Amino acid sequence: MLIWVPASWVAAGLAGLPNADVEVVALGRDMGQTGDVGDITVPASVAAVEFYVPSFVASAAGAEVLAKMPRLKVVQTLTAGVDWLRPHLPPGVALCNARGVHDASTAEWVVAAMLASLRRFPVFTSEQAEGRWAYQGTDQLAGKTVLIVGYGSIGAAVERRLAGFEVSVTRVARRARPGVAGLDELAGLLPAADVVVLLVPATAETAGMADAGFLGRMRDGALLVNAARGTVVDTDALTAEVASGRLRAAVDVTDPEPLPPGHPLWSLSGVFITPHVAASTPVSRQRAAQLVREQAEAYARGGPLRNVISGTY
Ligand SMILES: NC(=O)c1ccc[n+]([C@@H]2O[C@H](COP(=O)([O-])OP(=O)(O)OC[C@H]3O[C@@H](n4cnc5c(N)ncnc54)[C@H](OP(=O)(O)O)[C@@H]3O)[C@@H](O)[C@H]2O)c1
Repeated sequence: MLIWVPASWVAAGLAGLPNADVEVVALGRDMGQTGDVGDITVPASVAAVEFYVPSFVASAAGAEVLAKMPRLKVVQTLTAGVDWLRPHLPPGVALCNARGVHDASTAEWVVAAMLASLRRFPVFTSEQAEGRWAYQGTDQLAGKTVLIVGYGSIGAAVERRLAGFEVSVTRVARRARPGVAGLDELAGLLPAADVVVLLVPATAETAGMADAGFLGRMRDGALLVNAARGTVVDTDALTAEVASGRLRAAVDVTDPEPLPPGHPLWSLSGVFITPHVAASTPVSRQRAAQLVREQAEAYARGGPLRNVISGTY
């Protein structure tokens, strides 16, 4: 079988796989890669690809190429979110995500972003750059109520990491279950939270979920943390709430993304922005390469694949 992978580190994880030809074809940016990928030429071997691993960073070329793969059976992503590929998936092709691979990195980012925002690290970083000893008190995490909206694999990893921080955690998912509230209870939980963490997938249902009404229900001074997708938040509504000083935000993802120069969000002191880096770490890379190996092995022996997307995410 022919396997296309987007980078040599993914190919290295497949070394020695029997009866497999592995070709590195980069149709988008790799994890940690800056700048453009350059001109993309799709090799003629596209017609023989059976197992395809798209680039880590979403790209139009990486999604559109699916239509040129008549022998394709499996698309295995390196990411948990598959929103950019789903509309391009040919019928009969299995789409598998990397659920679990990025839990540690992303949950770590969430906790780091919470602490940085509450303890005002971005302010102190600016003062340090100016060489100023700007003594001031800060907020803290202890005693806060943290609401996790999208209590899935990463949400649970966030809660595990928060165990020592003396917070109380409330949880919301699509379907209610013991200890986890359903979506219909979200509006009632928002006013009680000091920190609201978004970890839902990008779907039609979650597009614009954190709109003016959602943000308006958050209590004064609360912090919104978005590690999900930019489209889950109404950017204009968030900008207005933070500009007024009523809410604070820490976002790894934005809409539009990348956030263009001059966008009003850049200049708000109540927003901490990172450029979609939550999952871009060596441990995520190592776990992603391992998952690709396990999935290719499972496919080759006709065994069941993990993380097959059967619904909208
Ligand atoms: N910033 C980054 O670098 C980064 C890294 C990794 C992932 N992500 C994003 O994080 C998302 C979550 O990843 P994951 O691995 O934790 O996914 P997951 O395990 O599938 O969990 C998703 C959770 O969201 C809930 N959900 C889905 N639709 C919802 C809705 N309309 N309202 C409320 N809750 C809803 C699900 O509820 P049920 O349990 O009831 O189905 C589930 O609990 C990914 O889809 C990706 O977009 C971002």
